[in-house]
Amino acid sequence: MTANWASYDSAAESHDRLAGPSYFEQPARDLVAAMDVGSAASILDIGTGSGLAALRAARIADPHAMVVGMDPSVEMLRIARSHGVRQVVAGVASELPFEDCVFDVAVASFVLSHLSSYELGLREIVRVLKPAGRLGVTTWGSIENEYREFWQSLAETFIDKARLTEASREALPWEEWFTNPENLEQAFQGVGLTGVRVHRAEYTIHTNIADFLAIREASLQARFMRQNLDAAQWERFRETVAAEFYRKFRDPIDHTRDVYIAVGTRPSTS
Ligand SMILES: C[S@@+](CC[C@H](N)C(=O)[O-])C[C@H]1O[C@@H](n2cnc3c(N)ncnc32)[C@H](O)[C@@H]1O
Repeated sequence: MTANWASYDSAAESHDRLAGPSYFEQPARDLVAAMDVGSAASILDIGTGSGLAALRAARIADPHAMVVGMDPSVEMLRIARSHGVRQVVAGVASELPFEDCVFDVAVASFVLSHLSSYELGLREIVRVLKPAGRLGVTTWGSIENEYREFWQSLAETFIDKARLTEASREALPWEEWFTNPENLEQAFQGVGLTGVRVHRAEYTIHTNIADFLAIREASLQARFMRQNLDAAQWERFRETVAAEFYRKFRDPIDHTRDVYIAVGTRPSTS
């Protein structure tokens, strides 16, 4: 069972202000650009978060197109709405609250790895796509960076490594799996999507140490730690991390992340 640290509610404000602009906005734009939303009358953004992909789609699509942002986190939906996503719906990918064959386009940006069964989620998405409807997703690639690794090593001095690993597996069971583009391609093909294309993109993240640490503090691992450390330990962790980062690195700390963008089509006859 996932506990409330796995919900994005407590991370929503930080995601919107920091991680969204630094890490998620450009991939969301590139995902939407790969989807030909100009011809779509109905678009679904699954795991919309603060609404980055939905808003980008709404900007490019026909003004009469229906754009729906869906997410299990009510806080994320509240923020998405405040940014102008007009239709927001609470729900999870494994049980989409929509009829069959409703959407021309569905996108899910950095969401698949959260699902306990990605196959079930993909089947649900295909169900709500119209025949010839298109699905596009993004997943993180495998480039690591020394800043995340260093943060992780410090975290492991405050909480048992095995517990932290177990928590990451529980909340992001497919994160590592989808760093392999072949797995992504096979997952799409496995639910009958055709014309599957996967391409890789690299993004340079420009950030300073303070923002990087604030983003890490909203991560699933930090949320787990916060729930399992007492208040004094958590404060000591934060102070230690800040002191060690400023000692070891020169501010700002630019780094690169790689992303896979996968697109496929529901066959017209299925
Ligand atoms: C890493 S965030 C990405 C948010 C947004 N797509 C973006 O690119 O900024 C992952 C999002 O997936 C949502 N999520 C988690 N589990 C989900 C599920 N089972 N079904 C749909 N969305 C889920 C989270 O609430 C969160 O908003």
